[in-house]
Amino acid sequence: MIPKVRKAVFPAAGLGTRFLPATKAMPKEMLPLVDKPLIQYGIEESIASGLNQIVIVTGRGKAAIEDHFDVSFELENLLEKRGKTEVLAQLRAISDMIDVAYVRQKEALGLGHAVLRAKELIGPEPFAVVLSDDVIKSEVPCLEQLIRVYQYFGTPVLALMEVPPDQAKFYGVVDAEPAEFNGAEGDGRLFRIRNLVEKPKPGDAPSNLAIVGRYILTPEIFGALEATQPGSGGEIQLTDGLKHLLQSRPIYGYRFEGKRYDAGDKLGFLKATVEFALDRQDLGAGFGDYLRSLKF
Ligand code: UTP
Repeated sequence: MIPKVRKAVFPAAGLGTRFLPATKAMPKEMLPLVDKPLIQYGIEESIASGLNQIVIVTGRGKAAIEDHFDVSFELENLLEKRGKTEVLAQLRAISDMIDVAYVRQKEALGLGHAVLRAKELIGPEPFAVVLSDDVIKSEVPCLEQLIRVYQYFGTPVLALMEVPPDQAKFYGVVDAEPAEFNGAEGDGRLFRIRNLVEKPKPGDAPSNLAIVGRYILTPEIFGALEATQPGSGGEIQLTDGLKHLLQSRPIYGYRFEGKRYDAGDKLGFLKATVEFALDRQDLGAGFGDYLRSLKF
């Protein structure tokens, strides 16, 4: 029996240098996309994919994240008195639906190190990792797409996306061969990974398939990360841990259906803001009219 994925880890302890000065005192995961912080989009995707046990790895600005997912009695009382029932229900829905635990990463020693901090809270079961600055819009939640593959093979599955050759240097890039599962679902999206290269130099990328911020991992990753030496920038990279793990078990990649926004980058954040606002029933029409009125 392949064990079920029930937990999701949200590393949120990075320095967010691409978004300074906004991220000086606040984690980038709390930047609002229209009216919700980035991390809430990831949490909602987890819930929609059946995962409601959440582990958040925090660094600076821990209080802002904790307060966001906590009950705010004063605010709720005030909203109730003022008859703001819709927004009150929205606030309650999220804290009611998840069970959150926090663990601290005291120093930003890399994504692999952040994931390792969740070891005790995860225990001996498979789990998802969600990087909430990668916001993904899709018909079927991206995590659910990955979980379907995981449930078939019982091995780690990484979210993959095609990137133009000049962009490969910003990502972990995979060397992979097409694979099939479920016969009928051999849809050209599944790959078996042969190797992974973190931020390849120009010309060194083994393919145009880059890893984006959604992973289904098995607990063996913790041992692999413990055995991983700090790599580029003195950080323990998750990609290097996965490379280690690849020596002992297969890892798959799934080119998910959907659109990903790099909301940890200023331009990516602006694109996501515009598209998410245009999609909103309450804002889209007015915002669209405004954009069309700008003559540029
Ligand atoms: P990034 O690679 O985007 O790094 O991290 P960063 O430091 O957050 O941002 P920039 O590049 O300086 O602007 C990817 C994810 O891993 C988490 C981040 O919070 C983000 O969700 N992370 C990264 C940690 O939790 N700890 C770390 O030491 C590094």
